[in-house]
Formats: sequence, C-alpha cells, structure tokens
Amino acid sequence: MLWFTGLSGSGKSTIATRVHEELEKRGVNVEYIDGDALREVFPSTGFTRSEREEHLRRTGYMASRLAAHGVTVVASFVSPYRESREFIRRLCGEFVEIYVATPLEECERRDVKGLYARARRGEIKNFTGIDDPYEAPENPELTLDTRALSVDQCVDRVLERHGARH
Ligand SMILES: Nc1ncnc2c1ncn2[C@@H]1O[C@H](COP(=O)(O)OP(=O)(O)OP(=O)(O)O)[C@@H](O)[C@H]1O
Ligand SMILES: [Mg+2]
Repeated sequence: MLWFTGLSGSGKSTIATRVHEELEKRGVNVEYIDGDALREVFPSTGFTRSEREEHLRRTGYMASRLAAHGVTVVASFVSPYRESREFIRRLCGEFVEIYVATPLEECERRDVKGLYARARRGEIKNFTGIDDPYEAPENPELTLDTRALSVDQCVDRVLERHGARH
C-alpha cells in the first residue's frame, strides 16, 4: 500500500498518478484510488472529522483486501487524521506512508482547484489547513517536499522505495 497524504494541492494526485503509470508499465499488478474519484461516486460524504474517518476506514479496509491479494495499491487522500492512517496501516501487511509535505502557503499559492480562495471567503467549511486540522505524519516512510523536488524526482523516490522491497 503506497498511501499518499498531504494538504489539498500538495501534489498527491500528480505524483501518485505517475507512480501508477510507471508501475503499470513495469507489469506490476497495481490499482489507483483517489479521494476525488471516491467522493464523486459517494457525493454525500461530508467533511466532518467523523465522516472523514468513517470514509477512510471503509476505503482503507477495501484497499487492504486488494493488497492482501498481491495488488499494489496507490492511494491518494488528504487523510488529515493520524488515527485514520494508523487504522489502515494496521490492516496492511506493508504500509508505505508517503507524506507530501508541501507547506500550506505553497498549496494556497498554487490553489489548483480554487478551493483555498473559497475557504478563505468562508464559502466552504471544514477545509483542511484553513478551518480544519491536518495532523502531519510523525514517522512516515517517505517525505516529499515538492518545493525542493521536481515531479520526476518525487516519482523516482517512491519507485525506489517500492523497488527496494519487490
Ligand atoms: N514536485 C511536484 N510534485 C507534485 N506536484 C507539483 C510539484 N511541483 C509542482 N506541482 C504542482 O502542484 C499541484 C498539485 O496538485 P494535485 O492535484 O496533485 O494536489 P493534491 O494533493 O492531489 O490535492 P487534492 O487533495 O486537492 O486532490 C499541481 O498543479 C502540480 O503541477
Ligand atoms: Mg488529488
């Protein structure tokens, strides 16, 4: 399980999509799951702590079942609460927590989806980093600072980490 966590706009999907592509090219049995795609399928999922945690426990459980059958799962979720991530870690034989550690000010400067501006205007509630917490990983297997590393370099780091075990 390659689990990407970080603020919105930190670069999770950008890096994870590329990692998925590269693994697929190498013939790895790999599946990609992304918070945005899941929320499109389940649009009523809210953003309170309990809703986020429940959503992640369900997602994480299903993903861990795939992983148990030899699928490499690449997962991209803000997953702001340490407890949810640790819950999923406990379900997995091998959990690689990848902290995309782009600071809030850089994510907000990028504002890829225009959501930070909306959150600042109070149009969106429970937005991670603005009026909702993000609990940074304390001991991630990998930390990527996207201010210092290019997308290619980030992808390489993840592939190295995966390759080291496979
Ligand atoms: N080294 C880098 N790695 C990843 N993304 C980068 C890097 N440098 C700049 N970027 C840019 O940062 C943005 C990251 O957006 P992305 O959608 O991947 O974030 P996200 O973490 O998936 O956010 P969300 O949680 O909202 O889905 C993209 O516009 C990407 O081009
Ligand atoms: Mg994303």
